Amino acid sequence: MERRTFVATLAAAGSAAGTPRLALEGGTPVRQTPLRGDYWGPLHFDQAERGQVTEVVDTGMPFRFSGRAGRTPAKVADFEKAFAARMQTRFALAVSSGTGALETAVAALGIGPGDEVIVPAWTWHSTATAVIRCGALPVFAEIDDSFNLDPGDIEPRLTRQTRAIMVAHLQNNVADLEPILAIARKRGLKVIEDCAQCVGGSYRGKPLGSLGDIGIYSHQASKTITSGEGGALVTSDPALFERACRFHDVGNLAPVHREWIGQAGGSPMAGTNFRMSEFAGGVMLAQLRKLDRIIAAVRANAQLVYDGLRDLPGIRWRRRPDPEGDLAAPVFFAFATRAQRDRFLEAMKAENVPAVAPGGSAVLPVQPYIENKVAHHPAWPTWTTPRGKAIRYGAASCPRTLDILGRYAGVAVGPKYSRQEVDDIVAAARKVYPVVAGAAG
Ligand SMILES: Cc1ncc(COP(=O)(O)O)c(C=O)c1O
Repeated sequence: MERRTFVATLAAAGSAAGTPRLALEGGTPVRQTPLRGDYWGPLHFDQAERGQVTEVVDTGMPFRFSGRAGRTPAKVADFEKAFAARMQTRFALAVSSGTGALETAVAALGIGPGDEVIVPAWTWHSTATAVIRCGALPVFAEIDDSFNLDPGDIEPRLTRQTRAIMVAHLQNNVADLEPILAIARKRGLKVIEDCAQCVGGSYRGKPLGSLGDIGIYSHQASKTITSGEGGALVTSDPALFERACRFHDVGNLAPVHREWIGQAGGSPMAGTNFRMSEFAGGVMLAQLRKLDRIIAAVRANAQLVYDGLRDLPGIRWRRRPDPEGDLAAPVFFAFATRAQRDRFLEAMKAENVPAVAPGGSAVLPVQPYIENKVAHHPAWPTWTTPRGKAIRYGAASCPRTLDILGRYAGVAVGPKYSRQEVDDIVAAARKVYPVVAGAAG
């Protein structure tokens, strides 16, 4: 019998046959070499992406808004049309990063000094810095055990200055949108969906990003599909789309966008430059065609892990508000204490199947620049208003968020993992989880 299969069988036998010794305690690791987690998009780079980049080089047209020799570049524009179709929105704007998309979304909604925006306490910095950068005040709400905004903690944080709710769909999971959208409707608030970490996911059959007023995405390397850096914004509101187009291109409305909107009614504003290059547009066109294939592969592998661990006594998964629509991985589960969780991470690493704590984001209320209210200028309006001066951040403002994130561990699952690699993940978790979760402390 092959060694790995033998170990897997032993692990599967579990406590009945006497638990196998953990590698951490001198036992034989499940794998001889560490299982590597690679970014998903670049694993799928092939002739399609190469062809797109080569075409831009050959035509000498890297800038989306001006052509050459009577030709008009169209890769970014084509990507926008294809992305809007995939996300089932009327419009899509390609930008240079997810951060740029967030800042554009906030600007399009006309949010600024004196306004407040609800932001989950755990998310990537940009979700909150986009609010700060426009001079508004981020007000953090707790997450729940889906790792996303807890709908029950939004209303207590609202004031008369609240204008919008930032919903982030983190770690490939979806936020529980229905109650959040209901609160927004009741209170007349706008909803921005930050889909950077769940590109291609859906909620009750609708693509993420299409349910709020504006959705944003990142195409940075660690996201579902990538051009290294990049981002996009979607909306079905022509007025918001026009403002977004103008903001991302120093106030201009390019002919391609003017045509798309049909009847543009806005006027120039002081904007910035978050334009996407034709190189990125071409690569994203190629990657977008692979999006559903990548997601299907991840889901299939993750399902094998769920199925392989389902019978472990007491296992409690991260909550999944829509298991049909999320991207399923990493497969996260809870421990009774942080000590147990940390022991699990350590023991899995020794088995050469590294597990992960919830990552890719930060608990923002405890970041020193937030807790000490530091913008890039001391007179920045975010924290000079009476509310800005009075608000208190820090650990005391988000105890549940800190508790939840300290007790979960997950196993990463990739779209190109072989069946043997998936079996190793299951074998290692089956070997380690019962020992660690059954221990005191
Ligand atoms: C939730 C979330 N929002 C926004 C961003 C910003 O995206 P970018 O890195 O493309 O600026 C990220 C990036 O990791 C993210 O995870």
